[in-house]
Amino acid sequence: MKHLIAPSVLACDFARLPEEIALLNDSAADWIHLDVMDGRFVPNLTFGMPLVEAINRLTDKTLDVHLMMLEPERYVEAFQKAGADWISVHYEACPHLHRNLQQIKATGAKAGVAINPHTPVEALFPVLEEIDLVIIMSVNPGFGGQKFIYHSIEKIKKLKEEITIRNLPTLIEVDGGVGMQNAQVLLQAGADVLVAGSAVFKAPDPKKAIQQLKNIGGL
Ligand code: DX5
Ligand code: ZN
Repeated sequence: MKHLIAPSVLACDFARLPEEIALLNDSAADWIHLDVMDGRFVPNLTFGMPLVEAINRLTDKTLDVHLMMLEPERYVEAFQKAGADWISVHYEACPHLHRNLQQIKATGAKAGVAINPHTPVEALFPVLEEIDLVIIMSVNPGFGGQKFIYHSIEKIKKLKEEITIRNLPTLIEVDGGVGMQNAQVLLQAGADVLVAGSAVFKAPDPKKAIQQLKNIGGL
């Protein structure tokens, strides 16, 4: 499968939101990555369902919602109704992860799990069959524009190996500090989806930056 690019709007100019989404609509972006932060699981606050719902009205692209929050089960249905196609919760925030995954899938959305840099990929192996998407966090969640944590590459490789052995359709997404400087290595390690915030929106030409990330490894 050709890899997918998921620009994160966290790095966009929210005062020009319709223009920023129009730019993504007119780009090679496959998904739009939406970072929901609760100020408790992570030390930052972003946005909730109303903004997801507004963005859903501005685009036909797949909405990839990354919930960095405690007790995500309280909001899963509302995010799906707001337009989320993929909903990912954090392993570290979910003592009943198997139940969370069933809940997400019952809404009709695809179910993802994000893991922090210190969480080993093996922690997901018992429920891997239930997971549509694993988000390997390659920075500590909470902020855009941070430095890529190198050890993430080993985690991608290990997870890809397990997914291949079990012949699962589970996708691997990498989130944090991703750009042209490391995209190729990440894809070689087994990543299927690249999230890019700063690398897209802080680039002089965001559309070109998306196209360059998409072109890696040939068309
Ligand atoms: C970090 C978020 C990321 C963030 C990535 O907590 O989950 O999605 O937007 O931003 P960059 O690409 O700038 O590291
Ligand atoms: Zn994210």
